[in-house]
Amino acid sequence: MVERRLTREPFQHIVGTQEFHGLTLRCDSRALVPRPETEGLVDAVLGLELPPGAVVADLGTGSGCIVVALAVRQPGLRLLGLDRSADALALARENVALHGVEDRVELAAGDFAAPPEAWLGRCSAVVSNPPYVTEAEWSGLAPEVRVHDPKAALVPGPSGLEAYRALAPAARGLLVPGGTLALELGAGQADDVRVIVERNGFERIEIRPDLRGIPRVLSARIPAVGNDDEDER
Ligand SMILES: C[S@@+](CC[C@H](N)C(=O)[O-])C[C@H]1O[C@@H](n2cnc3c(N)ncnc32)[C@H](O)[C@@H]1O
Repeated sequence: MVERRLTREPFQHIVGTQEFHGLTLRCDSRALVPRPETEGLVDAVLGLELPPGAVVADLGTGSGCIVVALAVRQPGLRLLGLDRSADALALARENVALHGVEDRVELAAGDFAAPPEAWLGRCSAVVSNPPYVTEAEWSGLAPEVRVHDPKAALVPGPSGLEAYRALAPAARGLLVPGGTLALELGAGQADDVRVIVERNGFERIEIRPDLRGIPRVLSARIPAVGNDDEDER
């Protein structure tokens, strides 16, 4: 194990697990190692206090950390997880089974720009920790990340904003009227992502910092049908 670590293989790949939101998850080179910042996305959805039976979609589910944590922490929720990586989905299935939440988590292969038609208009919330690292940032990352995390989980394109542009309109199509979108942000991306979600018709935008004070989780709502203020009464 020490020899593997000396080659800069991540500790989590060597031991095969990572803790996320107080849960032990399987972890290996098939998907991104879950990060503590991403727990803020889980907390943002739990804070919505959605009613039993509400559906939440996770675009780019990777190891399944977000859907598993939400399924365990709020047993009334139904979760949908989408990823275009077959490897990541296989790991997500293992984590869903490990925590015994198969009956409430549905996983599907596909691009988050075109989620399954059966999911459209069903979701009270859509969450995503999309790839947001720029090509330039990626070349400067530590070997633990650059060599061992899948590049497609980190880099969406040269600007780092390509995934937000692709998934914002798709999220709108998935949400019920008044539904909430919660996105993890890369450092320094808050203003750009705010503009992207506003251009896609989202409103009531809130941005929360992570434990280091970096703006990290953006949440926004689509208008409720008929009366924008209806859900506040
Ligand atoms: C940053 S990782 C997040 C994984 C996991 N949700 C987490 O927080 O640890 C982004 C995930 O999005 C997936 N992904 C990237 N581009 C995608 C696309 N266009 N459509 C669907 N999934 C995509 C990657 O395979 C990867 O698993």
